[in-house]
Amino acid sequence: MAIYFDEPSRTFNEYLLVPGYTSSKHVPENVSLKTPLTKYRRGEEEPAISLGIPMVSAVMQAVSDDKMAIALATEGGLSFIYGSQTVEDQAAMVARVKDYKAGFVTSDANLSPDMTLADVVALRDRLGHSTMPVTADGGAHGKLVGIVTERDYRLSRMSLDEKVSDFMTPREKLIVAPADTTLKAANDIIWEHKLNSLPLVDDQDNLMYLVFRKDYASHKSNPNEMLDVHKRYMVGAGINTRDYAERVPALIEAGADVLCIDSSEGYSDWQKFTLAWIRENYGDTVKVGAGNVVDAEGFRFLAEAGADFIKIGIGGGSICITREQKGIGRGQATATIEVAKARDEYFEETGVYIPLCSDGGIVYDHHITLALAMGSDFVMLGRYFARFDESPTNRVNVNGSYMKEYWGEGSARARNWQRYDLGGDKKGMTFEEGVDSYVPYAGPLKDNVAVTLAKVKSTMCNCGAITIPELQQKAKLTVVSSTSIVEGGAHDVLLKDKSGYSSTSN
Ligand code: IMP
Repeated sequence: MAIYFDEPSRTFNEYLLVPGYTSSKHVPENVSLKTPLTKYRRGEEEPAISLGIPMVSAVMQAVSDDKMAIALATEGGLSFIYGSQTVEDQAAMVARVKDYKAGFVTSDANLSPDMTLADVVALRDRLGHSTMPVTADGGAHGKLVGIVTERDYRLSRMSLDEKVSDFMTPREKLIVAPADTTLKAANDIIWEHKLNSLPLVDDQDNLMYLVFRKDYASHKSNPNEMLDVHKRYMVGAGINTRDYAERVPALIEAGADVLCIDSSEGYSDWQKFTLAWIRENYGDTVKVGAGNVVDAEGFRFLAEAGADFIKIGIGGGSICITREQKGIGRGQATATIEVAKARDEYFEETGVYIPLCSDGGIVYDHHITLALAMGSDFVMLGRYFARFDESPTNRVNVNGSYMKEYWGEGSARARNWQRYDLGGDKKGMTFEEGVDSYVPYAGPLKDNVAVTLAKVKSTMCNCGAITIPELQQKAKLTVVSSTSIVEGGAHDVLLKDKSGYSSTSN
């Protein structure tokens, strides 16, 4: 006979946190959002990787490329670079994150000495740069022959056909430093010589990077940033259950810090085989998450198969139509609560704590706090990050409002058939499980994440918690009635600003 779950399939919107005792030490400045990413023996050791903030970006074409990964790692989160692209392209994105040196700019629009003042003006207008290196061949890493800044020319007094070589500051007058100079040392040189920028060159005098005075200050203001032992940004990458023997080595070679099997349904032999292959070839040195699951059985299966973290969620994503198309899934809150209970039991039995990621369906900032309170260690977000400047898509004007495009990996546009693969010879995805959509453009990641986390921290203080484990232990959760949801928003007043207020969905 079929199994019936007693609990209805509930969403985050059906829950509220009931405040606990807030002591004088429960203030937002004291809150730490540090959280484990990979499994560990709690109480005996530290996790191999912890996140500075409990947010990762979804394994999706419209969300996680190298630019997003750098922006999010700067804030303390992590991106999983999408796997629905060729192995080479994905590995190249990972490598770009690892090669990126915060504060070190690779100038990709250089001048050559025989260009003219007109070219300088055109480049300045197009890119807004006021400092332009001059290389012998005009290439990004060509031999450095000079620099042009706004102090080198006066448009009112010079003819536009004057040659760059005649007015640039030539190489012999420039202060430069070797390519392996640290950011701190570069900054000291900048201050000592009152420079605005410092070119770093290799031993052949080829230009490698520029360090700007202003970037050092901004670099220092990111206390949570995710750095590896070599001080490079950390980055994750999505893999699938088909081509792992080819994809995993390429991603590891490119420097990926952690992998995640990206699949709509994780309780399957295919995930077990993929995890087994990774353990056979890399032991525990390669960290890999698995999922998605929505119940205790699914959790136990992936835990025993060796997953380093486990993702929860089927059918809750904003662009997802899996539940409509196939009739499978589970409300994200119910799934999170049940899987967290199974994880805690597993920890009691084995001493191994497996971090959980609630994936999909976060609509309001407070849903993040609910997901954490229910036992998730971090959340994965797609729509949330797709709205920012750093997502891979262009900003478009739709009927007078700026939008960003956002499409599901199961949409015809993404054609990510591996994510929906059910094994056998026939490839998956003969029907769509996701839609193609717009989401309102929301500006830079940094500003939005700051507001979101301010709300999370504030609620944690109301619950008497200054760490995520404390929140998980102390949280008091209540199911809400439909009329209390109405009571929870602004009601029975006429809003002066029809566009809403800041607690509406983001
Ligand atoms: P969101 O944050 O609510 O937009 O959900 C993002 C999550 O939806 C992703 O991390 C995936 O788990 C899931 N997802 C991505 N693409 C699809 C799709 O096409 N169909 C169903 N789920 C999807």
